[in-house]
Amino acid sequence: FKILVLNGPNLNMLGKREPETYGSQTLDDIIASLNKQAADLDVELEHLQSNGEQALIECIHSAWSKVDFIIINPAAFTHTSVALRDALLSVDIPFYEVHLSNVHKREAFRHHSYFSDVAQGVLVGFGAMGYSMALNAAVNHLHQT
Ligand code: DQA
Repeated sequence: FKILVLNGPNLNMLGKREPETYGSQTLDDIIASLNKQAADLDVELEHLQSNGEQALIECIHSAWSKVDFIIINPAAFTHTSVALRDALLSVDIPFYEVHLSNVHKREAFRHHSYFSDVAQGVLVGFGAMGYSMALNAAVNHLHQT
C-alpha cells in the first residue's frame, strides 16, 4: 500500500513554533519516525509539506490512482480552503485529518473544518502521536477493505 502524508502551512516551523501548543518535535523528527513505522508496517510513505495551496492541490491530483490513503494536517487551510477540500474529493482517496492541538479548545475560528465532514476520521489534540495513530489506523483500514 502507498500512503501520502501532507502537511500544510507553517508546519515546517514545528519545534520553534509555539512549542506550548504544538510540541518540541520538528517536522523532520515526526516524518523520520513515521518512515520507521511505515517500514515496520510494510507500506510505502510519501510526504509533502507546503506553505502554499497550489503545491498541496497538485500533489493530491497526482496521487489519483497511485495512493491508497492520505493523512493530512491542512494547518490553517483547515479553516479556509474549499479548494483543498475539493481536491481531496476529486481524487476519491480516503483520508484522515490530523491536528496536533485540540482545535476545539482554541479560538472559535479553529472550530470549523472544511475537511471533517468528508474525512474517514479526525485526530485532534494528540500531538505528534496523532500522525502515528493515523498511520496505524490507515493500514488497518486498508487491510480490511
Ligand atoms: C493545526 C491547527 C490549525 O488551527 C493551525 O492553523 C495550524 C496547526 C494543528 O495541527 O493543531 O497551523 O492544524
